[in-house]
Amino acid sequence: MKRIFLILIFAILAVDAIAGFGESKKCQKCHPIIYDEFYASSHRKSSIYTDPIHKAVWDKHPLKKQEKYTCAVCHTPTDKELLQKLKEGKPALPQPNDAQLEEGISCVSCHTIESIEVHAKANKNIMSTKPKTLFSAREGHENEKDVKLKVTSSFFGMFTQKSGSPYHTIDYTNKGFYNGDMCMGCHSHKENAHKFEVCTTQVAETNSTKGNCISCHMPSVQGTMNTIHKTEKHIYHGFTGASNSPKLLASYVKIAFTQNAKGFEVDIKNEATHPLFLHPLRVAQLQVTIETKDKNIILKPTTFKRVIGTNNKASMPWLADSIVSDTQIKGNENRKVAFDYKLQKGDKVEVKMGFYLLSESASKKLGLDSNKELSKFVLLKKEIFTVE
Ligand code: HEC
Ligand code: HEC
Ligand code: HEC
Ligand code: HEC
Ligand code: HEC
Repeated sequence: MKRIFLILIFAILAVDAIAGFGESKKCQKCHPIIYDEFYASSHRKSSIYTDPIHKAVWDKHPLKKQEKYTCAVCHTPTDKELLQKLKEGKPALPQPNDAQLEEGISCVSCHTIESIEVHAKANKNIMSTKPKTLFSAREGHENEKDVKLKVTSSFFGMFTQKSGSPYHTIDYTNKGFYNGDMCMGCHSHKENAHKFEVCTTQVAETNSTKGNCISCHMPSVQGTMNTIHKTEKHIYHGFTGASNSPKLLASYVKIAFTQNAKGFEVDIKNEATHPLFLHPLRVAQLQVTIETKDKNIILKPTTFKRVIGTNNKASMPWLADSIVSDTQIKGNENRKVAFDYKLQKGDKVEVKMGFYLLSESASKKLGLDSNKELSKFVLLKKEIFTVE
C-alpha cells in the first residue's frame, strides 16, 4: 500500500512538473523578446476564444453539434484534457480554461515535436516525452543531443563561462528544426469528410534557394535570444503571415511593369514555395491606379482566389468536394496580368498587391461583415512606375 501511495505521489509530481514546464509564461523570464512576439502571434491566438474567424467557422461547423472539437489537434494542442476526451470518444467541446484562453499553441507544443507522421486526412505530430528537453537548431551544433547547463572556469576560477540553459536541456539533432518539416504536422494539408483536401500548402519545391518555412516566416531580427548569454539577433516568433506583419514577407513578392502595343502588363512573381495565399477564405488582389494629368483613374481590380465547393458552386469547407475555380498565384509562379489601357507620357502607374482575410461573401455568411478589421484590404506591396 505504502509503495502504491509513493508511486502515486511521484506520478502526480511528474505530471505537475510536465504541466508546469509547459506554460509559456515560464519561458518569458529568460526569453522575453521571443515571448512578446509569440504573444501577438496567431499561434498563441488560435482558439475559438482568441480568433474570431476560427470561432465563426466552428459555430457553423457540423462537428459542433456532435460535440467533437477535432480542430484541437492543430488549433489547441495545449488542451490535453480535451484531446484525451476526443481520444476516448467522449463529448469534447472547448471550455474557457487557461489553455483555450491563453495559448492554443504554446512554446512547448512546437519545441517538443519529434517527428511528423504522414496521413491522407491530415499529418500527425509525434511528440517527444523526454522530460524538459527541447528541440532547436543551431549552426555548428547539429550533432549535439543532450546540451545541459555547463559552467567552465578558467584562470583559477576567476573567470567562469556558462553555456546551455539552467531550465531545460537542448537537443540540436532534429532535422525538422533546420528544414521546416516540423511545421508540416499542422500545415501540410487537411481533408474533410468527403476526402476532399480543403487546405493544402502544395509546396512546389522544398529546397528553394529562397528559403524554407522557417527562414521566410521566422526571419532573424534585432534583439537578444535570451537574457543570460546575450545575442545581437534572434529568430522572429510573431510568424509573418496574413494576420501578423505581412510586410516582412513583401520581399518575396516581386512586381514588374512593361508597356506593349495594347496597353501594359503587370507581372507578379511569387517567390514563396507555396500558393501566395493558402487558406480558402483568403482573397488576394491587384489594384492599379493611373495618375494622369489632373485625375486618378482606378482600373478594375484583379482578384486571385481558390474557390472550393460542390456542383460548381462555392460552399463551406465541410461541404466542399471539389475545386470550383483556382486563380491563386502558385508557388514560384510569375503571373502576368494584361491591361488594355493606353498610357500617356508622364502618367504614374500605382500598383498595389494585397489581400482580404475574408472574401466578401464569406464574411457575410459568417456574420463577420460588421468587423471592419477583418474585412479591410491589407497592403502587402506597392510600386509606382512612371511612363517615359
Ligand atoms: C491538420 C491541422 C488542422 C486542423 C485539424 C484544423 N485546422 Fe484550421 N488551420 C490550420 C492551419 C495550419 C491554419 C493556418 C493556415 C493558413 O492561415 O493558411 C488554420 C487556419 C484556420 C482558419 C483561418 C483562421 C484565420 O484567422 O483566418 C480557420 C477559420 C480554421 N482554421 C478553422 C478550423 C476548424 C473550424 C477546424 C476544425 C473543424 C480546423 N480549422 C481544424 C490547421 C488545422
Ligand atoms: C510554431 C512553432 C513555434 C512556437 C510556438 C515557438 N517556437 Fe521557438 N522556434 C521555432 C522554430 C522552428 C525555431 C527555429 C529553429 C530553432 O532554432 O529551433 C525556433 C527558435 C527558437 C529559439 C532560438 C532562437 C534563436 O534566435 O536562435 C528560442 C530561444 C525559442 N525558439 C524559444 C521559444 C519560446 C520561448 C517560445 C514561446 C514564447 C517559442 N519558441 C515558441 C518554433 C516555435
Ligand atoms: C532560467 C532561464 C531560462 C528559462 C526559464 C527558459 N530558457 Fe530557454 N534558454 C535559456 C538559455 C540561457 C538558452 C541559451 C543556451 C545557450 O546559448 O547555450 C536557452 C536556449 C533555448 C533554446 C535553444 C536556442 C538555440 O537554438 O540555441 C530554446 C528552443 C529554448 N531555450 C526554449 C525555451 C522554452 C520553450 C522555455 C519555456 C518552456 C524556455 N526556453 C525557458 C534559458 C532559459
Ligand atoms: C501545432 C500545430 C502547428 C504547428 C506545429 C505550426 N503551426 Fe502555424 N499555425 C497553426 C494554426 C492552427 C494556425 C492558425 C491559427 C489561427 O489563426 O486560428 C497557424 C498560423 C500560422 C501562420 C499565420 C497565417 C496567417 O494567415 O497569418 C503562419 C505564417 C504559420 N502558422 C507558420 C508556421 C510555421 C513557419 C511553422 C513551423 C515553424 C508553424 N506554423 C508550425 C498551427 C501550427
Ligand atoms: C520564399 C519564402 C517563403 C517560403 C519558403 C514559405 N513561405 Fe509561406 N508565405 C510567404 C509569402 C510571401 C506569403 C504571402 C504573404 C502573406 O501571407 O502575408 C506566405 C504566406 C503563408 C501563410 C499564410 C497564408 C494564408 O492564406 O493566410 C502560411 C500559413 C504560410 N505561408 C506557411 C508556410 C509554410 C508552412 C511553409 C513551408 C512549407 C512556407 N510558408 C514557406 C513566403 C514563404
